[in-house]
Amino acid sequence: MKVDVLIIGAGASGLMCAIEAAKRGRKVLVIDHASKAGKKILMSGGGRCNFTNYYVEPARFLSHNPHFCKSALKRYTQSDFIALVDQYHLQYHEKTLGQLFCDGKSHEVVDILLNECRKYEVELKLNIRVSSFVKLDQKGAEAAEFAIKANDGDYYAESLVIATGGLSIPTMGATGLGYEIARQFGLKVLPTSAALVPFVLSGQDKLKYAELSAISVLVEVSCKTQSFRENLLFTHRGLSGPAMLQISSYWQLGEVLSINLLPGMDSLITLLQTHKSKQGGILLKTLLEIYLPKRLLATFIGETLLQKKLAELLTKEIESISQALQSWQIKPCGTEGYRTAEVTKGGVSCDELSSKRLESYKVQGLYFVGEVVDVTGWLGGYNFQWAWASGWAAGQFV
Ligand code: FDA
Repeated sequence: MKVDVLIIGAGASGLMCAIEAAKRGRKVLVIDHASKAGKKILMSGGGRCNFTNYYVEPARFLSHNPHFCKSALKRYTQSDFIALVDQYHLQYHEKTLGQLFCDGKSHEVVDILLNECRKYEVELKLNIRVSSFVKLDQKGAEAAEFAIKANDGDYYAESLVIATGGLSIPTMGATGLGYEIARQFGLKVLPTSAALVPFVLSGQDKLKYAELSAISVLVEVSCKTQSFRENLLFTHRGLSGPAMLQISSYWQLGEVLSINLLPGMDSLITLLQTHKSKQGGILLKTLLEIYLPKRLLATFIGETLLQKKLAELLTKEIESISQALQSWQIKPCGTEGYRTAEVTKGGVSCDELSSKRLESYKVQGLYFVGEVVDVTGWLGGYNFQWAWASGWAAGQFV
């Protein structure tokens, strides 16, 4: 079978690229080994797909080349995707921090993409297993650039788009095929790691904090120079919640996280000293329970100290309480890895690709879009916006 554009991966970026290429009159085929298109879209956002964010900006993406994402994000913005979903009267709402979620279910976003595919006559083949990729001589058989072998026959295409995503959630069909193809064609692939992923604790830390499982509190978490003010969720295995997922993208094994459990308060020391002089008769517990859950206070401060009256607190005790709650230092022993990570950090090096076309500099006609590229967004719709934008950008040239 000969097509103009063969796209491997019927996820967010692959479908967007297919629609745009087909609008230009290109004959487009999308193939995927999964039984359904857009499986990650379907499971995203807790079933409501956080499809973009009002506040997309390049600084909210991690990459070895922080400038790379700018071109695509500027040419296909969140407003462009919103305009697309508006055409289909998709109902959505801003949950928090500019994050746009479907009012209904994630499949509504997949339905829109598949409808656009049908409108522009994109062909979609599922359950296809590809086995080899060869770049043919210009004058080779079928006058095509690429020959692809699959379980159902051979495919030939002028342009080959790799939209196979990252390694997160292998049970949903994630594979490292995109990285293998990049390496096969001599492109540099940067080391990958799980990102937007919960932390795991070990030993005493695990035992101590597992007791707080299911407690969620607003925190400010910092690692090196990066901070996030969002919720932390204690789990049986460690630490999760948006604050932890966000900082996981900046964290490396062996590093310590610094967590302020009272981010809205300038100084707990000042608060305790002020109350000590004005209301020395009240218990420490009574004051702190205004701000934090009882169980958490018992774990962090201990019942003995909590039962003390403010007037009885020594200066060094006030300092240690403040240290425990406003500057908690914790060293995770790792993350939950690709099993639960939302995204994969690293991937096909941006140095290998044109930021305008997403095409390889070394191999003409070979394109990489979406998560397989070394561009990783924050939590909150940023990764889909990168998938839409990079797919759209490549779609103008394939
Ligand atoms: P994507 O993973 O979407 O698609 C890749 C496609 O390639 C898949 O269809 C796969 O089957 C196919 N494929 C892989 N290997 C293949 C092979 N060997 N042969 C053939 N086909 C192959 N982001 C966000 O912005 N908002 C959100 O709400 C969420 N929520 C979320 C929840 C969960 C649980 C996860 C795991 C991830 C998210 N994300 C997210 C991240 C988001 O889903 C992700 O960044 C995009 O789907 C990436 O789009 P891609 O098109 O690059 O890959």
